[in-house]
Amino acid sequence: MIFKITFLSNFMKTKIFEQSELKQAAQLIKQGEVVAFPTETVYGLGANALDKHAVKKIFKAKGRPSDNPLIIHIAYKKDVKKLVSSLTPIAKKIIKECWPGPLTIILPKSDIVPYETTAGLETVAIRMPKSPIALSLIKEAGVPIAAPSANISTKPSGTTFDAVHDDFDGKIAGIIKGNKTAIGVESTVIDLTCEPPLLLRPGGMHFETLKKRIPKLQIHKPIKNQKPKSPGQKYKHYAPNAHIILFEKSAYPKLPTYKKNLEKKGKKVAIIHPKNSTNFSKELFSSLRTLDKESTDYILITSIPEKELGLAIMNRIRKAATKIIR
Ligand code: TXA
Ligand code: MG
Repeated sequence: MIFKITFLSNFMKTKIFEQSELKQAAQLIKQGEVVAFPTETVYGLGANALDKHAVKKIFKAKGRPSDNPLIIHIAYKKDVKKLVSSLTPIAKKIIKECWPGPLTIILPKSDIVPYETTAGLETVAIRMPKSPIALSLIKEAGVPIAAPSANISTKPSGTTFDAVHDDFDGKIAGIIKGNKTAIGVESTVIDLTCEPPLLLRPGGMHFETLKKRIPKLQIHKPIKNQKPKSPGQKYKHYAPNAHIILFEKSAYPKLPTYKKNLEKKGKKVAIIHPKNSTNFSKELFSSLRTLDKESTDYILITSIPEKELGLAIMNRIRKAATKIIR
C-alpha cells in the first residue's frame, strides 16, 4: 500500500497541446511547470528560466546532472540585454546576423539569471530559435524559457512528438504536439566570453558560416582530465540501448565480415549508411530510437565528411559509439 501511494504521488497527468492551444501551454510555464515544445533543431523541455524551482523540475524530469547548464530561449533579440552583464561588439554582430536560428551564444550572466539555470557558472547560454511555435510559446509565456533537449539524460534527443511522449508522459505538465523537427540535431554552441572565441558544440549552424563572421573562431578540443569548457561534453550522450559501431572510411571493407560475425552469434544487426548530411541529420536520432524499439543489438554506421552539418552529425555519432573501427 505504501508503495502504491508513493508511485501515485510521483505520477503527473501530462496534457497534450495542439498548436492552437499555445496559450494554455504558456500558462503552465507561467505557473512554474515544465512543458516540452518543438524547435527547429530538436524538442526542448521548457520552464521559466528565471524561476529556480521551475528549473529544478527540468533536471528532475530529465535525470540530468545538476552541473550541466541549460540554454535560455528568448523571442526578441533585445531580451538578451536583461540576461547578460555585458555585450561585446562581436556578440552584437552575431546576434544581429545569426538569430533567430540554431545558434547558442555563451555570454557573462546578469544577476537575474539563477545559478540553478547556469549550473553555478558565471556565464549563460542563450538562443533565439527560429521555430514559430517556440517563438510564440516564449512570447505568450512572457518569460525566457530554459530548455535542454527533450530526452532522458544520455539518450538520443527527441525530434518527434512520439519520442518526447515516450520519454516524458507522466513526468511533466505538458507537451506541445508539433511535426518532426526540421534540422534534427541541436544548436551550435559558441563561447564569446573567451579569446579566441570557441565553438563548444557543432550543431545546426555550420562552423563554416560562423568562421566567415568570426575569423578567429576555433573548434574547442576538450583535453583529457581537464575540466571541460562545456559541462555537457563530459557526459555520455545520444546513446540508444544498442551498441553503435562507427566505421571510418578506411574501415568500410571490414563491415560485411563484422556484420556476419555478429549475426553468427545470434545478434540483431542494422546498418546505417548515410548519403546526404542534410537529410540524414533529420533522421539520425529518430532512427536510433526506432532501432531500439526493434530490439536491435548492434548498429553499424559508416562515417560522412566532417563539414557543414556533417560535423555535428559525426560529433553525435562519436559520442554515442561504443567502438570506432579505423
Ligand atoms: O538545439 C538546442 O540547443 C536544444 C533546443 C531545445 O534548443 N537544446 C539543447 O540543450 O540541446 P542541451 O541542454 O541538451 O545542451 C546544451 C549544451 C550542453 O552541452 C551544456 O553543457 C552547454 O550547452 N552549455 C549550457 N550553458 C553553458 C555555459 N554557460 N557554458 C558552457 N556550456 C554551456
Ligand atoms: Mg541534450
